[in-house]
Amino acid sequence: MLSWIERFVSSSVGRKALMALTGLMLIGFLIAHLAGNLSLFAGDEGAAFNAYAHGISSLPILPIAELALALLFIGHIALAVKTTRENRRARLIGYQVVSTHGQKTFASQSMFLTGVTVLIFLIKHLWDFRLQKEAFEVDPFDSVQTALSDPLTACVYILGIVALGIHLSHAFGSAFQSLGFNHPKYTPLLRVFGKVLAVLLATGFLALPLYFWLGQGGSN
Ligand code: HEM
Repeated sequence: MLSWIERFVSSSVGRKALMALTGLMLIGFLIAHLAGNLSLFAGDEGAAFNAYAHGISSLPILPIAELALALLFIGHIALAVKTTRENRRARLIGYQVVSTHGQKTFASQSMFLTGVTVLIFLIKHLWDFRLQKEAFEVDPFDSVQTALSDPLTACVYILGIVALGIHLSHAFGSAFQSLGFNHPKYTPLLRVFGKVLAVLLATGFLALPLYFWLGQGGSN
């Protein structure tokens, strides 16, 4: 059993499939995360968001869900680093490497760079809301408002989210091809759907630092 898994992960096809699978699951997390965060806009001085945040933190399954999420992020990043390294090595010794699916675009050519930018954002983000947990537990809305009204934090968030949008605009469609799904009609449709989803997610997340930094949220 283990040797089957080892062989799967050590083959470049297996690694790409796992990277695609972990990436799609992370997109699922992002959709749920944005849906919850939209309650920050309720205009009720944080009542809806605080109820949501306290509801989540009292879920008995939370530690398991957080562990699964951490493993998804770590697995996705480790696979990306290994794939990028191997592609570079192959290029150095003169192999033609097909590292992306579809046409070459800025997004497809900069997956590693946008991924690293999102990772830097994520480290800051977890520091803001997870590692300084005590302040967050007292009043989640107040913590978000304080963090995002700070111009430097807002700029880091904006940069990270723009990078996330570019990353996702290529990732979604490409993931299905890495999983072996290749259809003359549906593959182009999935690519368009992936781009629309990336724009929607990035716009939704971007609205939050903009709202608290420049807009109403910061003036409370
Ligand atoms: C401006 C946009 C965002 C805001 C306001 C926001 C807000 C938050 C808050 C308040 C928490 C703490 C939740 C809790 O502990 O109950 C959190 C956790 C988290 N966020 Fe975000 N988030 C944003 C964007 C993102 C993005 C773009 C990503 C991924 C790339 C992300 C990934 C995470 C992760 C992994 C956690 C930890 C989840 C956990 O351990 O329960 N967030 N976020």
